[in-house]
Amino acid sequence: MENFLQTIKTEAKKNPKKIAFPDFAEARVAAAIAQIKSEGIAIPVEPVIDPKKYSARLAEIRGISLQEAEEKLKDPYYFATMMLEAGEVDSVICGPNGTSRERILPALQILKSQHVSAFFFMVLPKTVDEDAANGGILLFADCAVNIDPTAQQLAEIAIDTADSAKKFGIDPKVAMLSFSTAGSSNDPHAIKMREAAKIAKTMRPDLEIDGEMQVDAALIDSIAELKDPGSKIAGHANVLIFPNLEAGNIGYKLVERLAGAKAVGPILQGLSKPLNEVSRGCSIEDIVNLTAITQLL
Ligand SMILES: CC(C)(COP(=O)(O)OP(=O)(O)OC[C@H]1O[C@@H](n2cnc3c(N)ncnc32)[C@H](O)[C@@H]1OP(=O)(O)O)[C@@H](O)C(=O)NCCC(=O)NCCS
Repeated sequence: MENFLQTIKTEAKKNPKKIAFPDFAEARVAAAIAQIKSEGIAIPVEPVIDPKKYSARLAEIRGISLQEAEEKLKDPYYFATMMLEAGEVDSVICGPNGTSRERILPALQILKSQHVSAFFFMVLPKTVDEDAANGGILLFADCAVNIDPTAQQLAEIAIDTADSAKKFGIDPKVAMLSFSTAGSSNDPHAIKMREAAKIAKTMRPDLEIDGEMQVDAALIDSIAELKDPGSKIAGHANVLIFPNLEAGNIGYKLVERLAGAKAVGPILQGLSKPLNEVSRGCSIEDIVNLTAITQLL
């Protein structure tokens, strides 16, 4: 568990970049910044809000008046996102103040380059059965942004999460999760995940993606042999794509709380520049880990 996160920190330290923290003075952020500075992981920057500075550019991007832009730029998340857009910093960590929507929306409006989604690295403890652990580091998506994605959006989430896995040296084997395996149900929900797998395979034949499949068939060899013997992914999946946000959010928290996994994220993908957010319940360690990962995106 520690090795993966340690490697990420070591990589980040090789080229520490400027990162803005809109919630600079928040107690956990302040403590994390002290650690980030002492370890040399990144160069933390405190945004000093001057709404006039980016108002013309924001007005242009959003097609709004200068006055409306200035009003928005009083919000630290809009201001920090515009610092990133302008190239004054290399990345941003929003939170833990504000709601999820307040933290994410400026990025969706200003930096989206394609469909945006979020994954978690689930770093499993050694106590998890080796057969199920599939290397010990799994990626779960989407666990934070898309409430009820379409088959096309699920295909894009699968592709982006596979590419994110590769960025961190993990060879992705992607399972589109359902309550059905290989056509055992023809309910529209199961068909949606089957369709998503088909779209993803057509879009990116170079990636290993399969589904629909149940999570036990995705993870465990002996079950895969019974339920989906023809699949190369079943039994070996390390990237799990959930059908909707309820499943994704509940799924990662179950593995975190009951199996003792370390959940690192959410890590946003599909933005033109790296921006991530920490939630109200985050720890200092969460902020430090997410900062290191954000440096490498
Ligand atoms: C992310 C979220 C805030 C977006 O809200 P929304 O009401 O769908 O946003 P809107 O429809 O007002 O869209 C706002 C902008 O974001 C864009 N957007 C929304 N979702 C997007 C996505 N997944 N990818 C790319 N852009 C997206 C829209 O296209 C729109 O852009 P535009 O103004 O340039 O046209 C919403 O989906 C949400 O609340 N998700 C769940 C967050 C959450 O609670 N997570 C759990 C805790 S971790």
